[in-house]
Amino acid sequence: MNFLKIEDLSIDLGEFKLVDVNLEVKKRDYLTIIGPTGSGKSILLETIAGFYKPEKGRIYLEGEDITNLPPEKRNMSIVYQDYVLFPHKTVFDNIAYGLKKKIKDKEKIREEVTQITEVLKISHLLHRKPTTLSGGEQQRVALARALIVKPKLLLMDEPFSALDIKTKENLRKLVKKAISEYETTVLHVTHDFDDVWSLANKVVVMKNGKILQEGDVNEIFYKPSINFVADFVGTNVLDGEVIGKEDGLTKIKVGNCVLLSVDDGEGKVRLSIRPEDIIISNNPIETSARNEFRCKVEKINRMGNLVYLTLNVDGIMLRCILTPNALYSLNIKEEDIIYALIKATNVRIIAKNVEGECRS
Ligand SMILES: Nc1ncnc2c1ncn2[C@@H]1O[C@H](COP(=O)(O)OP(=O)(O)OP(=O)(O)O)[C@@H](O)[C@H]1O
Ligand SMILES: [Mg+2]
Repeated sequence: MNFLKIEDLSIDLGEFKLVDVNLEVKKRDYLTIIGPTGSGKSILLETIAGFYKPEKGRIYLEGEDITNLPPEKRNMSIVYQDYVLFPHKTVFDNIAYGLKKKIKDKEKIREEVTQITEVLKISHLLHRKPTTLSGGEQQRVALARALIVKPKLLLMDEPFSALDIKTKENLRKLVKKAISEYETTVLHVTHDFDDVWSLANKVVVMKNGKILQEGDVNEIFYKPSINFVADFVGTNVLDGEVIGKEDGLTKIKVGNCVLLSVDDGEGKVRLSIRPEDIIISNNPIETSARNEFRCKVEKINRMGNLVYLTLNVDGIMLRCILTPNALYSLNIKEEDIIYALIKATNVRIIAKNVEGECRS
């Protein structure tokens, strides 16, 4: 039995609709929901929490139909980007707030607060008021408050997006530890793929109020089922044709290039190459890796703490990622000729018998 099951869920908010959402989540799954802004991620989360009434469809939690239950009866906690703590209560009272409604035993409440604050490393802050805390500390308090009531589902809507990179990394580690101790099932909306890679075992991709693809993390990033998902998660997807074998590797012709893959295939195939799996160099690289291409740098885009390069390999466009530091030390500019290296293990055949033109 699925822990959370959503069947044909639709909502009409006038200008925006959630359309026939189906989702199955197992106990202790960590599901991340990704998709462009306005795709309905928050609305989906808030509908699961009970803040919107679906027009059609059902939501089951542990087999119980909760579609019409009010939010407070659903046994779920929600954590937002902005920490929404009670400003006049101490950290202790903020964390104990939900628990006090459930149990009266003061000693037991203190024990539970001690336990969760030790896991999240905020025991030293219990006497403070939230306004005196840093963003990362406030978010740990919000997490403690959400987890202490042992919710069946922890819903998080971009919980780390207001925090700096180091604090985010630290918080991810703490969340991992806390949800493992509390055996929590999590639905986490995010724009940050680092959240997906470091926390999730499952991913849902949304667009225009619909789920386009769901699967485990590798499936979404290495086997995007449609071009939109491939573009959104940044995977290079290429169509080609198998033209034979070489030393146990499959030879695939893509445009004017030949790529070698460890995967088996024949006929027309679709390939995926992750941008972070492309190694670049100013000069030809002496290595045993078999896919090496001379290419032109078409475009350099800096986004946040990463640099995206678009490489033109004999007419095929490949996207790759570098750190700003790597870009600086390689001294690469648009129009430069460089060399790209892709290991045969990183050229994955994601579909066979594919019809259509080479996608580049
Ligand atoms: N109460 C509402 N009534 C009508 N439309 C709404 C309501 N709340 C949100 N919307 C619209 O629904 C769409 C989806 O909103 P939602 O907040 O779920 O997007 P999102 O995927 O979470 O985006 P973001 O990544 O920017 O947070 C948006 O176009 C938004 O303007
Ligand atoms: Mg949102």
